[in-house]
Amino acid sequence: MNSPAFSFPIVTRVWQSTIGRKFLVALTGLVLVLFLAGHLAGNLLVYVGREAFNDYADFLHHMLHGAGVWIARIVLLTCLTVHVAATVSLTRQNKAARQSYECPGTIQASKSSLIMIWSGFTILAFVIFHLLHFTVRVSYPAEAFVDPDYLLATGEERFDAWQMVITGFSNPLVVIFYVIAMSLLCSHLSHGVQAMLQTLGLRSKKTAPALNVLSIGYAALIWIGFVSIPIAILVFQFGR
Ligand code: HEM
Repeated sequence: MNSPAFSFPIVTRVWQSTIGRKFLVALTGLVLVLFLAGHLAGNLLVYVGREAFNDYADFLHHMLHGAGVWIARIVLLTCLTVHVAATVSLTRQNKAARQSYECPGTIQASKSSLIMIWSGFTILAFVIFHLLHFTVRVSYPAEAFVDPDYLLATGEERFDAWQMVITGFSNPLVVIFYVIAMSLLCSHLSHGVQAMLQTLGLRSKKTAPALNVLSIGYAALIWIGFVSIPIAILVFQFGR
């Protein structure tokens, strides 16, 4: 006779085991980490100029006849939801375990997981602000940002995403908020990438030093790339 656990679908069984949820955090984290590298590479086109940046934005919106951007959004949203839900569930479980077995090592571990949880929630708040800012464009009506060069060359209108970014980062408060959020994001990343590599079984005594350099180096590169954009636009008046 099958045990009750075998009558559950695979997803439920993965979710019910601690190692299953750790794997879900690691795999969804990997997707989000790769997204950040891709998003940064695209955003750095802001330095190339209006045409390159708006061509790239156009490409994203018209990929697979417009379906590509929605597939990417669904994948990202699913990964983000699973990542947050599994982390919260694991943290609750650890807290309950600690209450019955307290020792100095677990106090240290709980401090760093608390930092991860709070930096994670701050990043979530940032992502919501960022989506309203640049994707929903609550304060940037499409008719106010028409790409002038494209209009001149083709006679057609297209959204001037480049100008939106330049205008968005002309506000010092927005820039300060982005720099704080990017810094928390990268602290979360440097710890998260190490934890992810450990869960995926890549960490051993021999590989640990190289993996530490890799995760800190990756987080540092992402930080430098992302913060350079708002700072260059505000401080060096880039694009104006
Ligand atoms: C200086 C830093 C950043 C800049 C200039 C920037 C720029 C942009 C722009 C222009 C868009 C709209 C793309 C479009 O619809 O054409 C966008 C979307 C988005 N950004 Fe960023 N971004 C930055 C940092 C980040 C960070 C750190 C994250 C993640 C933590 C992030 C996550 C997203 C997401 C999830 C979208 C929505 C994609 C979509 O559904 O269309 N961005 N970003």
